[in-house]
Amino acid sequence: MSPRHFLTTQDWSRAELDALLAQAAAFKRARLGRQLEGRSIALLFFNSSMRTRTSFELGAHQLGGKAIVLSPGKDAWPIEFDTGAVMDGEAEEHVTEVARVLSRYVDLIGVRAFPKFRDWSVDREDKVIRAFAKYATVPVINMETITHPCQELAHVMALQEHFGTTDLRGKKYVLTWTWHPRPLNTAVANSALLIATRYGMDVTLLCPTPEYALDERYMAFARENAAENGGSLTVSHDIESAYRGAHAVYAKSWGALPYFGRWEQEKPIRDAHRHFIVDEAKMALTDGAAFSHCLPLRRNVKATDAVMDSPACIAIDEAENRLHVQKAIMAALAG
Ligand code: CP
Repeated sequence: MSPRHFLTTQDWSRAELDALLAQAAAFKRARLGRQLEGRSIALLFFNSSMRTRTSFELGAHQLGGKAIVLSPGKDAWPIEFDTGAVMDGEAEEHVTEVARVLSRYVDLIGVRAFPKFRDWSVDREDKVIRAFAKYATVPVINMETITHPCQELAHVMALQEHFGTTDLRGKKYVLTWTWHPRPLNTAVANSALLIATRYGMDVTLLCPTPEYALDERYMAFARENAAENGGSLTVSHDIESAYRGAHAVYAKSWGALPYFGRWEQEKPIRDAHRHFIVDEAKMALTDGAAFSHCLPLRRNVKATDAVMDSPACIAIDEAENRLHVQKAIMAALAG
């Protein structure tokens, strides 16, 4: 039988997500435990990280477990993912062996693998983590691929703490695109849509043009989530009406999906929307909204110093919560 994985929150019921958040809150009150005594997790990073690596490694340690960090292609062998590939290129081994060997050593496998940014129709298949989930005989945790479910839980936990309630229904939630000099992953934006609608908020996706809408898979999930949980989903390109009356503003930059592989054509559109920066004037339109971002964040590009340093900013709380929610996830999967 295939083990239970944590690849997307859509695979987990609201009751299960609520239980993870309750356990995370317990870990926040009392950090140390023995839930991973004698257990281990391999953390595979195909891309850079600061928060994810630190919080997973430390979280495993705080629960009595051991984390082993591997960067395939750097300190571990490059891996092939295509079935039937004639491996006469860079890759020295195939994921079928890597996943099964690691499963003999460790109790959990975490994977971070961003899109390649050349062809969204390929990237949206999430080939790397799906292959690990297929061949591993231990649970696999998504540490960010085309969604970022650990960030989702940390985010909703920070919102619940900020509002002093686990019931977020009726809150106006704005996910705003912001400018960045490079096209970035849509993972956190996809995840924000999933979790905000899952918790019944009235969600506005604010982006420059229709081309910045997220993948229809996540738009459809978000519409279903909203219908099931008493919220709503609206797409807007109007900054003022989107911000007006908001209770929460979440910022993220991403590349427009139709322009994958031809980014020089997207650049003029992106560069015409630098004014999507989160600043004091926009926040003044809200109903005293909380502001957050997954981090890392370029100050005075995505959000101003004044917004980042204001009491409304809960980004540091959200980053801290990564530690607590990931301990809850590891404990649940390895238990
Ligand atoms: N938010 C987040 O995942 O941070 P890192 O990229 O630093 O891990």
